[in-house]
Amino acid sequence: MAQPTADAKNAGKPATLSIVDNRTGKQYELPIENDTIKAIDLRQIKVKDDDFGMMTYDPAYMNTAACKSSITFIDGDKGILQYRGYPIEQLAEKCSYLEVAYLLVNGELPTKDQNADWAKQITEHTFVHENLKKFMDGFHHDAHPMGMFVSALAALSTFYPSAKKIADPAERKLTIYRLIGKVPTLAAFAYRHSIGMPYVHPDNELDYASNFLSMMFKIAEPKYKPEPALAKALDVLFILHADHEQNCSTSAMRGVGSSKVDPFSAAAAAAAALYGPLHGGANEEVLRMLDHIGSINNIPGFIKDVKEGRGRLMGFGHRVYKNFDPRATIIKKLADQVFEVTGRNPKLDIALELEKIALQDEYFIKRKLYPNVDFYSGLIYQALKFPVDMFPVLFAIGRMSGWLSQWQEMLLDEDQKIARPRQVYLGREKRDVVMLSQRS
Ligand code: ACO
Repeated sequence: MAQPTADAKNAGKPATLSIVDNRTGKQYELPIENDTIKAIDLRQIKVKDDDFGMMTYDPAYMNTAACKSSITFIDGDKGILQYRGYPIEQLAEKCSYLEVAYLLVNGELPTKDQNADWAKQITEHTFVHENLKKFMDGFHHDAHPMGMFVSALAALSTFYPSAKKIADPAERKLTIYRLIGKVPTLAAFAYRHSIGMPYVHPDNELDYASNFLSMMFKIAEPKYKPEPALAKALDVLFILHADHEQNCSTSAMRGVGSSKVDPFSAAAAAAAALYGPLHGGANEEVLRMLDHIGSINNIPGFIKDVKEGRGRLMGFGHRVYKNFDPRATIIKKLADQVFEVTGRNPKLDIALELEKIALQDEYFIKRKLYPNVDFYSGLIYQALKFPVDMFPVLFAIGRMSGWLSQWQEMLLDEDQKIARPRQVYLGREKRDVVMLSQRS
C-alpha cells in the first residue's frame, strides 16, 4: 500500500471526513489519520437507535488496511519495493539472505557481531528431532513436497511446546531461530522422501543457501560443495521472496497468530495459504506455458490466443505492480549469471521473445501488464535442478522471515485483537424446526 500523502497542502484544514446519511439527513465528522478512517467510527451511523450501525463491505480486503506496519513498503505504480526502508535492489546486491532476515525481524541491518551471532544461532537450529524423520516416512511415496512441508511445520509445534509462551521475548527469539533454521531442513527432507533418497543432515560449515543445496542434492561425496554462483543466486531469490507486506499467506500468519496460537502452527497456516496456485504456484505455470509454446515460431499464435481470451500470459501482470515488478528486473539479471554456469535453459529464448513481443503490444501496454517475479524465477529454479513441485516450498523458505517479522509486529501492536471480520447476513429469518418425521 502507498504511504499516506503529505498533508502540507492541506495545512489548516480539518483532517476529517464529513458524511451525510441521506436516509436520515444526519451529518457525521470522522477523523482521518494516515489517509484512513477507522471502520469502527462508521458504527455510529444508524437509522434507528437499536440498529447495529454501519459497516464497510470489502470482500478480499481490496481497500482495507488491517494493520499499521513498519516492515515492507510497496508502491505498485512506481515499481518500488523496500524492506524497512531499504530498496530491494540494494539488499539483493549487498546483503545475504540472513542479514535481510535479521533486518525484517529486528528492524535494522545487523552489525558484524550481530550478524555472526544471528547466523550462528540459526545454523545451530537447523537440525530436527530424529522423530521428525519417522513422521516424514509416513507420507506416501508421491506426496507433494509442499503438503509434507506444511504438515511438518505444524508437527514441529508438538516438539516445542514452550513456543506457546508467545508473550516471552526470549521464547519468541528462540522460535524465530528455530523456524528460520529448520525450514530448509524440512524442505529438503520432503524432497528426499519424495524421490526415495536418504535424508542428509545439515552441514554447519556451509552458509544458509549452500547448506540447503547440500541437504537437497548430496549423494555419496564426503562433503557437498555447491557452485558458489548458484548458491548466491538461491540466496538472492530468498531475499526477493522474504516479504511482500499483507499478501494472502502473511495475512494468514497474522490472522491465525492473532488467536495466540504458537508460531509453528501459525506458520503452517501461512504455508498452506502459499500452496494455492493463485499465490505461490504461478512460476510453475510459467514453465508449463513455455513448454506448451514449444518454440519461438509459435509465440505470435500464442499471443493472439491470449488477446482473444484463450488463456493468460503467465508471469505477467500483478495486483499491486502496475508499472514493473522490481523483483523481475533483478531476477532477469540473475538468470544470466546462473546460465553462465549451468548452460542456457532453451526456454529462456522463448521467455525473452515473449517478453519483447508482449511489451510492444497494445493489449499488454494498455492493461499495464509487465513481467512479475514469477516470469523468470522458475527458469532459474529449473537450472538449479529443483523439480517444479518444489517451487512453492522454495518460496516458503524465503518467506519465513517475513511471516515471523509480521507475526511479531502483530503481537506487539496494542491496536490488535483476535482477527474476526464481520459479515452481511443475507440468509433466512428466524423459523421453527419441524421434526424429521413431519418434513415432506
Ligand atoms: N495475460 C493476459 N491478460 C491479462 C493478464 C495476463 N497475465 N493479467 C491480466 N490480464 C488482463 C485481464 O484479462 C483484464 O483484461 P480486461 O480488462 O480486458 O478484462 C485486465 O488485464 C486486468 O486483469 P485482472 O485479472 O483484473 O487483474 P488483477 O490485478 O486482478 O490480476 C493477476 C492480477 C492475478 C496477477 C493477473 O495479472 C494474472 O492472472 N497474471 C498471471 C498469473 C501470474 O503471473 N500470477 C503471479 C503474480 S505474482 C505473485 O503472486 C508472486
